[in-house]
Amino acid sequence: MRLQTVLLAAAFVFLTEADDQHRPPPPTTPALSNGLAKTPPMGFSTWNQFGDQISEQLIIETIDTMASNGLRDAGFVFINLDDGWQRYPGNRSYHPGPIEADPVKFPKGIKYLSDYAHSKGFKFGIYNGPGQQTCAGYIGSEGHVEEDAATWASWGVDHLKYDSCCSEGPTAPQAEVETIFRNMSLALLATKRPIVFHACHCGWADIWKWAAHDGANQWRIGQDIPDDFNYPGYRDGYYFDVLEMLDRGRGLEKYSGPGHWNDYDMLIVGLNGNSTQLEGTGCSNVEYRSHFTMWCMVASPLLIGADVRTLSAYDLQTLTNKEVIAISQDPLGKVATVVHEDLTLQTQVYAKDMSDGSKAVAYLNRGTLTANITVDPFKDLHVWWKQYHVRDLWKHQDMGIFNFSNPYMVEVFAHEVKALRFTPIWS
Ligand code: GAL
Repeated sequence: MRLQTVLLAAAFVFLTEADDQHRPPPPTTPALSNGLAKTPPMGFSTWNQFGDQISEQLIIETIDTMASNGLRDAGFVFINLDDGWQRYPGNRSYHPGPIEADPVKFPKGIKYLSDYAHSKGFKFGIYNGPGQQTCAGYIGSEGHVEEDAATWASWGVDHLKYDSCCSEGPTAPQAEVETIFRNMSLALLATKRPIVFHACHCGWADIWKWAAHDGANQWRIGQDIPDDFNYPGYRDGYYFDVLEMLDRGRGLEKYSGPGHWNDYDMLIVGLNGNSTQLEGTGCSNVEYRSHFTMWCMVASPLLIGADVRTLSAYDLQTLTNKEVIAISQDPLGKVATVVHEDLTLQTQVYAKDMSDGSKAVAYLNRGTLTANITVDPFKDLHVWWKQYHVRDLWKHQDMGIFNFSNPYMVEVFAHEVKALRFTPIWS
C-alpha cells in the first residue's frame, strides 16, 4: 500500500515535470482586455475596393446606403476607414505634430464623419501602423502612440486596425511585434473610450498565440485575400484564396472566442474582379455565397470590402441572410471545425456548436464536380441524437427529420456550400 502510494507520487511528480517542459513559459505581463467584440465585428472597410482613393462623400454615401438597404439592420455597423485617410505621406519624423486627416479628401474632418456614422446607428473605425510609415506609405504612429490614440478617441473612433506588417516584417521576432501591439493596446485603454482593437500582422509571428493576451480583439491569420475562390497559382505566394485561407485556419480554432477572433481577412463578396487593390478575377455568385457562409462558420470578423452602392440584388441577399449571420454572431463564439472530409471527391463537412444545443453544419464542395455529401451524426458530429431536424439556411426551408440510419444527404454543386442547422429532437 505504502509502496503504491510512493510510486503514484513519483509518477505524479514525473508527469508534472514532463508536462511542464512542454508548456510555454507563463506570460510575464498581465492580460489586457477592453471587454469588447463579444461576437465577431461586422461592417464595411474601404481598402479592398477603393485603396487610398477615399473621401468624405464616399463615406457619407456608404453610410446612407447601408442604413437603407438592410446591411446596417443585418448587423454591419462598423464603417472603417483603412489606409490613406492621413494628410501626409512619408515618415512620421518629418511630421511631428498631431496626426491629421487629408483636408482634400475629408474637408470636414474625421470627427464630422464619426458623428454622422453614430447619428445613423453605426460605429466608426480608422487605420494606422506602428512604424514611420503605413503600408500605403502614409505617416505611421512611431513615437506618437499615446498621442494618436488620444486623437482618435477625441474623434469618436470605435475601432482601430493597427497594421504592423510593413514596419515589422515576416521574420520580426515575436517579442518585438508583441511590444508594439501591447503599447497601442495600453494607449487605447488609457483613453477610456471603448475601441475595438485589430492587431494586424498578416498572420506572422504566431500572432494568434499571444495577441488576445495583449488586448487585441482580432488578428489576421494570413496575408491578403485575393478576389478568387480557388486559384491554385497563388498557393505559397502572397495571397491566400478563400479555400487556402480556410485551410490556414485549421488548428487555430482554439485561439478564437468571445472578445478575440481569428480574422480570415475582409469579405470579397461583390468585388467581381474590380478591386483596385487585390489580385484576382472575381468569383461566381455561388462562390461568393460559399465564402460568406464559411466566414460565418469560422467566426471571422465580417467586413464588406466591395462598393455597397453598387451591390447586385444577389450579393445583397447573400450578405443579409439573417439565418447565416446568426451562425457568426452566436454568443457561444465557437469556430467550426472540419468533422468529415473526402479527399477524392474534395468535399468537407464543417460543424459548429450553437448556444441553443443545435449544430451549424456546412457541406462544402471544393471540387469541380457535383457531389453528394452527408455526415454521420454519431461518428462525425459525436451526438447521440435519435432524430434531428434539418433546416437549409439558404433555401430558408425545413428539410425534414433524419436519424443515424437515414442521415441528411444532399447534392452540392461545385464550389457550393449548403448551410444547414441540425436540431435534436429529444421526445
Ligand atoms: C495591408 C493590409 C491590407 C490593407 C493595406 C493598407 O498590409 O493587409 O488589408 O490594410 O495594408 O495599406
